[in-house]
Amino acid sequence: MTVIEKDKKYVASTYNRFPVVLKEGKGSVVFDENGKKYIDLGTGIAVNTFGYCDEKWTEAVTVQASKLSHTSNLYYHEPCVKLAEMLCEKTGFKKVFFSNSGAEANECAIKAARKYAEDKKGSGCHKIITLENSFHGRTITTLAATGQEKFHKLFTPLTEGFISVKPGDIDALKALVENGDVAAVMFELIQGEGGVVPLERSFVNAMIEICRKNDVLVVCDEVQTGNGRTGNLYCYQNFGFMPDIISTAKGLAGGLPLGATMLSEKVENVFSFGDHGSTFGANPICCAGALSILSRIDNDLLRGVREREKLIRSSLKGAKGTHGVYGMGLMLGVDCDCGGGKLATALLEKGVLALTAKNRLRLLPALNIPVELLTEALEIIKETAALLAES
Ligand SMILES: Cc1ncc(COP(=O)(O)O)c(C=O)c1O
Repeated sequence: MTVIEKDKKYVASTYNRFPVVLKEGKGSVVFDENGKKYIDLGTGIAVNTFGYCDEKWTEAVTVQASKLSHTSNLYYHEPCVKLAEMLCEKTGFKKVFFSNSGAEANECAIKAARKYAEDKKGSGCHKIITLENSFHGRTITTLAATGQEKFHKLFTPLTEGFISVKPGDIDALKALVENGDVAAVMFELIQGEGGVVPLERSFVNAMIEICRKNDVLVVCDEVQTGNGRTGNLYCYQNFGFMPDIISTAKGLAGGLPLGATMLSEKVENVFSFGDHGSTFGANPICCAGALSILSRIDNDLLRGVREREKLIRSSLKGAKGTHGVYGMGLMLGVDCDCGGGKLATALLEKGVLALTAKNRLRLLPALNIPVELLTEALEIIKETAALLAES
């Protein structure tokens, strides 16, 4: 049986995979089982921050794997505290809880918000407002937070206490917050799975103001936008405010599962012993990978992200079959006449791996993708979008 046949026989059929079996990769280039080469603009959905098997990352991870692989959270270890320290020093957050995925990082953020409200305002103040078109994960609670009906059906009843409002509808949000039973407002600054849709700055500012006035926590889901992806270490820095809690995962450990929920001064002591936990969270190998990634997301690297964004925007400006690039940094969505799905499928044929988000083509390349490779991929995108527009 081929890999694809075995996958269909033995792996739960939750994914509509592209018909390609990837075998090995280095940086922004990956090869399939037949030796066909692809330029990768998807990074495993914003995970491989420095591409496949980055040399320094591989070394950090393998050294750690041969020293201390897993400890549980019953004991201290250095990679965990070094990473928490680095995250806090780079952001101003005060404490970090480590988990293994974006959904878990959000679960922790939700628990922290509920606990803060319970401690501060008493029971009954547990509601969390999220935004329509958002995506916060696949667990029953993060599905409840996700403001897209299509993910809900078949899995009800979901966790209660979540209400979604339309991005931009500040009056609806204000009315809900002023009801007095709201613990937090939780949102992605750029809705990734929702189509790479950035929130309006004026709406974000108004949300923050309402939350501050009512002692309602501001929770940013930086699972996809985080870790340098949008041209700053975290996307809230592009918007100029400090959230109370952020969740992140994906690119944090550069290809290993690691989630982090960061707590600001206001909520740093919200959890006590036993309030939350994770067997694998803060795994030493994952933390070593994250230390290797995070220590290299500096101003030079971030400048490079913004320069590559400019290159993509200028290259695709006016390109036939496309009409507009949305997003920030290297989290970009491209509107195309033929639809993102059709374009991504055609690009695969031509040796470019790209993603989709709603009807857009989604580009999430490695933060250090060589400019020549990016240029080559952009030429292929333009050529393919033009061809599809004609057909
Ligand atoms: C904004 C956001 N939050 C949460 C998640 C869920 O992350 P995970 O798949 O690691 O659980 C995702 C995944 O795409 C995401 O984009």
